[in-house]
Amino acid sequence: MTIRAVVRGVGHYLPERVVENSEFEKTLDTSDEWIRSRSGIERRHFAAEGETTSMMATKAAERALADAGMSADDIDAVIVATSTPDLTFPSVGTMVQEALGMRHGFAFDVQAVCAGFVYALANANGMILSGQANRILVIGAETFSRIMDWTDRSTCVLFGDGAGALVLEATESAGESADRGILSADLNSDGSYREMLYVDGGVSTTGQAGKLRMQGNPLFRQAVGKLAATAEAALGKAGLGNDDVDWIVPHQANIRIIQGTAKKMGVPMDHVVVTVQDHGNTSAASIPLALSVGRERGQIREGDVVVTEAIGGGLAWGAVVLRW
Ligand code: UT7
Repeated sequence: MTIRAVVRGVGHYLPERVVENSEFEKTLDTSDEWIRSRSGIERRHFAAEGETTSMMATKAAERALADAGMSADDIDAVIVATSTPDLTFPSVGTMVQEALGMRHGFAFDVQAVCAGFVYALANANGMILSGQANRILVIGAETFSRIMDWTDRSTCVLFGDGAGALVLEATESAGESADRGILSADLNSDGSYREMLYVDGGVSTTGQAGKLRMQGNPLFRQAVGKLAATAEAALGKAGLGNDDVDWIVPHQANIRIIQGTAKKMGVPMDHVVVTVQDHGNTSAASIPLALSVGRERGQIREGDVVVTEAIGGGLAWGAVVLRW
């Protein structure tokens, strides 16, 4: 017998404002055709003025709790993956905890940029396996529209805002790859790639939040190989192979990266959850958003083997394998 962290609920929140690619044609030397063909993005959501990462995270969390048939009283911990917190501190996690009315348990943030949700899932799994918490809200929430340079066409057309959340619960299991719950994780980072994707400001440097800077093409060339390798490493740790995959739920940065990774793994595209056309790149929010939308669409069902994989600033990358 062993303990597994099993998904009990999922939910997401997207801000009301939808921005189509054509809106960027008014202010930048770009086109709907370029954005669609190079990235697969057609539209994205942007937070309203005054709408923050913790507000979006709280809405996603409330929906995941409702889906699980639980209340905040049932939760022991809140982990939020974000690189765009409301404030330098306290954590978004503690803000969500307060907004949910929780006066117990603990909360913190994980910062691994676009790989943040994978890192947060691995952290939550470790805490459940070590008995530090039985039920954890794991949230990915971002307001990347606040760190865009609106004059840089190579980045500002790619990102969006939103939040997604899962409720994980400790569950006694057989200790086999047929168990429901998180089966394995594979995490990696290499700080020597820092220049490929970073924000040019921060507390101990400029004292300002800064703007996102990206060398898109060199990053693109790193992405497919690293994502396929980490996904396969995680599957191996779970005692599974590529043929066992029901759904790849990838970080939604670029449809060409998503397709390239699936092809390298030999997984057909009708086994990949794709939301990049509607959400753009929402960094740490993209995987929980895709899990929630994939479940809503009827793609992901109980018992399915799901592989999440992501790469982003750091570079940091990784994968988590779970049985839904
Ligand atoms: O979430 C974290 C992980 N992020 C990623 O993995 C993103 C990885 N990178 C990418 O998704 C792609 O590299 C991009 C979508 C960012 C760019 O696609 P690309 O095929 O690598 O294009 P490129 O950067 O090589 O640029 C091609 C051309 C350039 O013009 P020249 O030098 O060929 O004349 C760019 O200046 O496209 C130009 N360009 C644009 N043209 C119209 C760059 N941005 C735009 C734009 N509209 N918005």
